[in-house]
Amino acid sequence: MNILRLFNQPLPDYFSPAEFYHENSKNASKIFKGGLSNEGVIEHQLKLTKHYDTSIKVPLISPSFQTQHSYEKIITSRRTGYGHSGEPISAEELSYLLYYGYGVTGTASMHWKGKDYAYPLRAAPAGGALYSVEIYPVVLSVTGVEPGLYHFEAERFQLALLKRGDFRNSLKDFFMQEELLNHAAVIFLFTGLFPHKEKKYGQRAYRLILLDAGHIGENIYLSATALHLLVAGAGGYLDDVANEFLGIDGVHEAMIHAMSIGKAKVGGRDSTDKEQPKENLSKWTKVPMIHERVKDQPLSNAVIIWRPDLGTSLTIEGTGAAMWSLIDGKRNLRAIADAILEEYEVAPETLEEELSQFIDRMVRKEYLTTD
Ligand SMILES: Cc1cc2nc3c(=O)[nH]c(=O)nc-3n(C[C@H](O)[C@H](O)[C@H](O)COP(=O)(O)O)c2cc1C
Repeated sequence: MNILRLFNQPLPDYFSPAEFYHENSKNASKIFKGGLSNEGVIEHQLKLTKHYDTSIKVPLISPSFQTQHSYEKIITSRRTGYGHSGEPISAEELSYLLYYGYGVTGTASMHWKGKDYAYPLRAAPAGGALYSVEIYPVVLSVTGVEPGLYHFEAERFQLALLKRGDFRNSLKDFFMQEELLNHAAVIFLFTGLFPHKEKKYGQRAYRLILLDAGHIGENIYLSATALHLLVAGAGGYLDDVANEFLGIDGVHEAMIHAMSIGKAKVGGRDSTDKEQPKENLSKWTKVPMIHERVKDQPLSNAVIIWRPDLGTSLTIEGTGAAMWSLIDGKRNLRAIADAILEEYEVAPETLEEELSQFIDRMVRKEYLTTD
């Protein structure tokens, strides 16, 4: 602690653990005095960060597709969202999130004292190429993957099953906001393996681990956006309960972040809406038209629509926003469905049902007319 600062500036909270930690993890010299020799670091990098000796491993699928969105579009349309539909995501989507989030995407080779070394590099950067963040996916609704708690093994691109079961209620025991969990398809729990990074960086390791988690989190945010999935970072949880759920001690390894992911609800959030009976697309033979009194304001991944004369408004997200943007008075419903199928990965039958419900709802609320 730099005592002089206490006299020159407003007194900081002397006993603030955060202030104390920050002061004590400052670099005081440009000469790096790590805890390991270069050779030691290489040996350390070669080790798997964490490996569970469980017999059930679920292989992940190397993503076989590339989305067509521009990099810029993905960044500007990234938003936090929840209010999931409850629809499962596919095993390939789960694999995509983990691969582009934190998968092994390359190797680095080094020659040191007559020996060649190669160690894996990942989609997210990590201080010292020491990947000290672990991801534990809690699978709730993923087609072809049994619900349960898993550990992501990046080097082998597989999941290790730690415990089977639907853990939605256990998650509710430690997450502050249930809406992050309701109907989500998967929750990623991130932990920091502190001694792993401390070996090289000592007290500074904790800072680096949190930064590493941020990079992974953003990769996952962008990957989910590319797949048109809803995604939310979640920092509000009871640490000790979460650590107990994960079976970790909370000292050497502790939960440091979480993310919830799932399919979007068509039509966005509108708490006044009640479930309506399912209708069939064939009912709508006429081309729906936007009511002449409707105003709308497109946002990056949503559109706000309102009727000033009626005093009603609605925010439409995801595929609902896409549907809205395609209603031009010329396209019939088949043409709208075809345009969406080109852009979104959705089963034609599901889309037909969603589109039909969407049009019903918009007509009922007098945003659309078929007259
Ligand atoms: C580390 C981190 C933790 C977060 N924790 C929560 C959370 O617990 N609950 C929540 O509703 N949103 C959470 N968020 C989402 C932020 O509220 C959101 O990113 C912010 O409002 C900006 O909105 P945007 O992501 O849509 O741009 C978190 C985001 C980050 C990066």
